[in-house]
Amino acid sequence: MMMPRPFLCAALVALVLAAPAAAAADLDRARKIVAGRCFLCHGMEGESSSEVFPRLATQNATYVAKQLRDFQTGARKGTTMNGMVAGLTEADMADLGAFFAAQKADPHAPADAELAAVGRYLYAKGNPFSGVAACSGCHGPSAHGTETLPRLAGQQAPYIEGQLKEFNKRTRTNDNAVMHAIASKLTEFEVKALAEFLASAP
Ligand code: HEC
Ligand code: HEC
Repeated sequence: MMMPRPFLCAALVALVLAAPAAAAADLDRARKIVAGRCFLCHGMEGESSSEVFPRLATQNATYVAKQLRDFQTGARKGTTMNGMVAGLTEADMADLGAFFAAQKADPHAPADAELAAVGRYLYAKGNPFSGVAACSGCHGPSAHGTETLPRLAGQQAPYIEGQLKEFNKRTRTNDNAVMHAIASKLTEFEVKALAEFLASAP
């Protein structure tokens, strides 16, 4: 049986109009989740309330969604985060990613400009004398990352230091061992310099 023509047209128009709306992220819903269970540590706009919590403002959307999924499955273990993601759906995680990616964040001034300069060198060129790969090769020349690789520019220094140590000790394992190979070659001085540079990068 054929559908009457005007009805078919109306149905097609409705379908075409509905498609983009369904794909777009629901930022209001994300904001409600943030207000309900994230803002105490990450702030309402993703500007973390303390240096020990990662800044999520401007972080890449797909990367954020992946981390939330990894905390949920246990692929990434964290003392705090595994409980926070309980019950979040795939759509919630995608919306939260889009929400944080859309926030603005101002860079911090470096506390020690000379240390930051050492970090800038390491970031761009690696350490050719000990075989540390240049970070810029993956995280990008401005440390803005990609859709799936984390943005490092503007991230809190203590958080960066902490993650590099966790990659080294293999307590953070959701990186396909890529970051472990790099972090295991970094000295304490290099870790401090990289964190100082990245936290102040725009
Ligand atoms: C009690 C504090 C706290 C609350 C509340 C909290 N987080 Fe976190 N979050 C952390 C800490 C600490 C980390 C660092 C990772 C770790 O050590 O587990 C983190 C890490 C993350 C990361 C990974 C960031 C990166 O750069 O890899 C994301 C994404 C995240 N949190 C999102 C959220 C969302 C979304 C919520 C709300 C549903 C939330 N967090 C609630 C403390 C918190
Ligand atoms: C070969 C590619 C590659 C290179 C080179 C690389 N990284 Fe990474 N980096 C990754 C991947 C992959 C992840 C984890 C992504 C994930 O968890 O999904 C990551 C994650 C990180 C994180 C965690 C960010 C967060 O928000 O939790 C930090 C910090 C980091 N890298 C710093 C560095 C530094 C500093 C260098 C240079 C010394 C570097 N990376 C070089 C691929 C790379």
